[in-house]
Amino acid sequence: MNKELKEIIQTLFNKDTNAEILVSNRPDLCDYQYNGTFEIAKSLHQTPYDIGLKIAEELNKNEDALTKFSKIECVRPGFINFTLTDSYINECLNKMTSENKFNITLPKQEKIVIDYGGANVAKPLHVGHLRPAIVGESIKRLLKYMNQEVISDVHLGDYGLQIGQVIYGLKQENILSNEITLDILSTLYPKISSLCKEDASIKEICANITKELQDGHVEYQEYFKKILEISKEDIKRMYDYLGASFDLWLGESDSYAFVPEVTKSLEREGLLKISEGAKVVEVAEETDKIEIPPLIFQKSNGAYLYGTTDLATLWQRQKDYQPDKVLYVADSRQNLHFTQVFRVAKKIEETKNIDCEFLGLGTINGGDGKPFKTRAGNTPRLEELFKETKEIFLNNESHNTEYEKDDLKKIVSSIIKFADLQNTREKEYIFDIEKFSKTTGKTGPYILYTYVRTKKIIKNKESLVDNLSKTIYNVHDRSLRLKILELDEILNYAFKTRMPSVIANYLYEICVLVNAFYENNHINNLEDNDKKRDWITLLSLTLDIIKDLLDILVMEIPSKM
Ligand code: ARG
Repeated sequence: MNKELKEIIQTLFNKDTNAEILVSNRPDLCDYQYNGTFEIAKSLHQTPYDIGLKIAEELNKNEDALTKFSKIECVRPGFINFTLTDSYINECLNKMTSENKFNITLPKQEKIVIDYGGANVAKPLHVGHLRPAIVGESIKRLLKYMNQEVISDVHLGDYGLQIGQVIYGLKQENILSNEITLDILSTLYPKISSLCKEDASIKEICANITKELQDGHVEYQEYFKKILEISKEDIKRMYDYLGASFDLWLGESDSYAFVPEVTKSLEREGLLKISEGAKVVEVAEETDKIEIPPLIFQKSNGAYLYGTTDLATLWQRQKDYQPDKVLYVADSRQNLHFTQVFRVAKKIEETKNIDCEFLGLGTINGGDGKPFKTRAGNTPRLEELFKETKEIFLNNESHNTEYEKDDLKKIVSSIIKFADLQNTREKEYIFDIEKFSKTTGKTGPYILYTYVRTKKIIKNKESLVDNLSKTIYNVHDRSLRLKILELDEILNYAFKTRMPSVIANYLYEICVLVNAFYENNHINNLEDNDKKRDWITLLSLTLDIIKDLLDILVMEIPSKM
């Protein structure tokens, strides 16, 4: 109807507007609403109500509008309220049932590289690794669902100071490369890292080891390969457990081969400046509200930094894939870094046409508002977090189901994922295991429970699935149908904003309505077969949608709950 509305506004007021009829936030008054009258009124010096009356009058003459809406009226101060006809609602739902991907509008296809996960090699895996993996994986699945050509890359942090620190520690303790184990790595990194904080000269040594490693030092390379091998295995295990999978397992170190070409290109454009012995690229722009310092391309000791590897990686991605876009999912605190990198990339001929987007993430906090800790007061390793969550879930409720191991894993995992994904990715949030483990409220178990229970109701009745009739039977029924009609708008909005939280919140709303529907409409005892068939058709469409949305949110459905 947006197209017709746009035409009417054009004819009546000679205005080209982005006319959009939105889902009403007053479902008690109407289903959809248009509030663009306010803007039109401002420029024409008329009241929004007068504008709205004229538009509504025209719409009420439009034949197409009359088949879709049972009521179109302008109310003060100038909103136009729309109520859909039951038959039109059902017609749309029938199309959703019969067409691929629920008949949603798919955006133009682009080739997109998505960079997420990004664990740092040789450091223990902890709760901070959760968000970049889960949110990133969910965005990747959303992009794919929306028909994009996607290439995912884990982009491991594998050439930074931490490697120099670990090699330093190994040498100090006379550990040979073939003696390295995961346990050694996980104790060594924290130890040397705190040593470096106390003693600047040790940090200097570690920085030099890093530099020599980057330059190809044979012994350090041997250590590095072994560290990478062991650490990668552990990282793979973790991502596997979380359900994150990657097309490419590249890291910072893989981009080194491209540093000379990037350097040449920067030199050609005259972009490399010397500042205090380091090579930098200036990126400040006149319109900046805060100071954006130059990107340091090469330190005075010759070492390359995080910005260098990101530029070289982008170069590599251009060479290998010629992507339209590259998306980076990482901690919000890296905003400045990415601003610098993207600005330099825009100055380089070979990378200037790639559209880069930084998708920042807020931190996960504990109840005290500080980064999350276990009951014992540590930053938990991921395994501990899962264990603690499982215990709390099992203690929380009087479960009468004996969970199978695999089902329990899916439920526990849903607690953590849904807790995370329902929050706007940019915002920090408080991780409250007690709250998120409940089977009621906005939690993973609640969503899964709704699915499993509804599935049980319609089981064995699937042969009845058919097109919906023109009837809607009551208010709970109508609310659920209307909510389902929002799917197209929700998916497209989540896609545009790269926000899985939009989907998580919508999924929760559907589940609330499904439960209300079920509690008020007793399908099983129904005598009226038409009604029964309609309702089962409706529920089975709803379940199909929930299933797809759960998959986008990286959640798996248990066999029973
Ligand atoms: N390794 C980085 C970190 O732990 C995240 C990597 C993000 N991706 C990138 N291309 N810089 O913070």
